[in-house]
Amino acid sequence: MISRLEQLKLDALKELDLIDGAKELELWRVNCLGKKSELTRVLRSLSSLAVEERKSVGAAANLVRAELENGLTQKKCTLREIQLAAAAREEDVDVTLPGRPLLTGRLHPITETIHEVCEIFNSMGFQVTEGPDVEWNYYNFEALNIPDDHPARDVMSTSWVDIEADKDRGPMLLRTHTTSVTARVVESREPPIRVVEPGKVYRYEATDATHTPMFHQIDGLAIDKGITMADLKGTLYEFARRFFGEDRGVRFRCDYFPFVEPGVEMAIECLVCNGKGCRLCGNTGWIEILGAGMAHPQVLERGDIDPETYSGFAFGMGIDRLPMLRYGIDDIRLFYSNDLRFLSQF
Ligand code: DAH
Repeated sequence: MISRLEQLKLDALKELDLIDGAKELELWRVNCLGKKSELTRVLRSLSSLAVEERKSVGAAANLVRAELENGLTQKKCTLREIQLAAAAREEDVDVTLPGRPLLTGRLHPITETIHEVCEIFNSMGFQVTEGPDVEWNYYNFEALNIPDDHPARDVMSTSWVDIEADKDRGPMLLRTHTTSVTARVVESREPPIRVVEPGKVYRYEATDATHTPMFHQIDGLAIDKGITMADLKGTLYEFARRFFGEDRGVRFRCDYFPFVEPGVEMAIECLVCNGKGCRLCGNTGWIEILGAGMAHPQVLERGDIDPETYSGFAFGMGIDRLPMLRYGIDDIRLFYSNDLRFLSQF
């Protein structure tokens, strides 16, 4: 029986060798491995054999089947290759040419800027935190020392949300600055706190080359024991150095924001004229990039943080202006018009 199986295998493989078409190959499979093939018959009849014989014949038959199946797979591959090569010749296709690159997406320049700024602050120990775009009046204004009649409301033309006002937190709006996240952070966390808060902000304004009703900001907050103005200046100076370059001059001047005391603005030397004065900087040589200051004691108290024990600094800046300054882009609308000719340059 075993020698019969051996012969069967040799015959089948010899036949397989000569096959050069899919149809013939299928016929060969039915004949040699199919239900009615001799091999299958042998395998089926194993049960009628004596134990010893069943073992040896069974093992031999299974081996033959494995070898034939293997041969079948290999033949299939060979035939497929031959077929592809023939098709290529016919169509004049060079299958060895590298494929066309797939079009992959990439991050928007604003998103990239947010990542870059966050990374700089991350490396100085600041964590990224986010808050809702649709915000309560309380967190956007009241908690930040901006009551209803405060003049700071005028410069933040607000889009109100038409929904019933909350008894404690007032009406809803689209946040006008990411400082609203700072109001949430002081309320929900214990010092030491070091966070940066990037996101979209909204102002009810007409669109032009320097304004869009939606743009981006990032705020930051550090609260701990013994934080001083020196920490504020050191941190923001380091940011400017890393983002705009080692030698970029930085200037701090007094400014007013209701939620800090004292407040400052930070400017960098103009990137176009390097401080000499040009159209971009209005001949001053400086470009203001952020507001900052020492966290106001009342803001801390509203978050149950004792201003006698803790102090902190806060800052906030527009994101969109950063790549505009760096790449000399003079129209903010370009970021939001989805023109790939513009976007794919970055
Ligand atoms: N929220 C201010 C604005 O939109 C910017 C700002 C100024 C944020 C000073 C701050 C800060 O955190 O300390 O104009």
